Amino acid sequence: MPDAPPSLAELAEEGRSAIAAAGSSVEIEDVRVRLLGRKAPLTVLKRSIGDLPPEERGRVGREANQTSAALEALLAERAAALEAQELDHRLAADRVDVTMPGDPPSPLGSLHLITQTRREIEDVFVGLGFRVLEGPEIEFDFYNFTALNHPPGHPARMLQDTFYLSPDVLLRTHTSPMQVRAMEAQEPPIYVIVPGKTYRRDSDATHTPMFHQVEGLAIDEDLTLADLQGVLLELARSIFGPEREVRLRPHYFPFTEPSVEVDVSCFSCGGTGVSPEGGRDALCKGSGWIEILGAGMVDPNVLGFVADHGYDPDRVQGFAFGMGIERIAMLRHGVPDLRLFYDNDVRFLAQFGR
Ligand code: PHE
Repeated sequence: MPDAPPSLAELAEEGRSAIAAAGSSVEIEDVRVRLLGRKAPLTVLKRSIGDLPPEERGRVGREANQTSAALEALLAERAAALEAQELDHRLAADRVDVTMPGDPPSPLGSLHLITQTRREIEDVFVGLGFRVLEGPEIEFDFYNFTALNHPPGHPARMLQDTFYLSPDVLLRTHTSPMQVRAMEAQEPPIYVIVPGKTYRRDSDATHTPMFHQVEGLAIDEDLTLADLQGVLLELARSIFGPEREVRLRPHYFPFTEPSVEVDVSCFSCGGTGVSPEGGRDALCKGSGWIEILGAGMVDPNVLGFVADHGYDPDRVQGFAFGMGIERIAMLRHGVPDLRLFYDNDVRFLAQFGR
């Protein structure tokens, strides 16, 4: 005897447990097909209602429809619950951390070696109590030359041939004009440095028409050449290493008296003149010393131009110095050609990325 077909009550019971057991929206869709699809036992049963005796058709048809409607409602409820659960999981898993850095992080530029070197020099002098000033690149002949003891027609003007904008306005050839401007703006004592761009009509491997200097000026009641030497020793050791020495050699500038050129002991050979491999050291050319800047005691004639700002040459005195930032950077980092600073070749610049 074949198995009797399942009763509506059995189909309803099986359906309820299948719906309850479905664990995902994909599974519940399978269960729907199994319970209510074209080949589902309940569908088959409904299709065969016509074969029943007429008096049973109404009741069985009604009960079958009620069963489908009840399963339909359970399916919808369970599907909604499963979908909500799945959405929660997805939202939790997909959460975006808006505090994470962008991907990929955009490449950063770095400070130009001239800027790095200028800042290092500034740090040394700020540490010694100097203030940092800036001044105009377009300058009066008066500040660039006359007030620095180069009267019109003085032959030393020829040492710094420059770009004139008019007979008495030019691109400054050095930062020294700020000595006089700074003293006009502040009574003594004064301790300042002045970094900035300077211009000369020069162009070769060690000269560009625009370059950078740092000027220094200190005026007080009892400053001597020994103070200048101490300040520059601090600079040399900060920039070139703690073992360095400095030496002052007599020189000439119109606006300092006495004037000196300042050498630092060679950091390639340690001051011996003999290279680490033996033989004449190439950096200092065997001398053991490398020139780094010009300096001197401020000429009383220069103070005479600011006497009515409190600079009485009989009461105050001091020193000034000026250095090329490119030169310091070239020595310090072994840069062979000044023009590399201005070619903007990233392969060069990136080596000093900081
Ligand atoms: N201004 C001089 C130059 O450019 C350097 C210097 C500055 C010398 C201050 C003495 C004092 O060569």
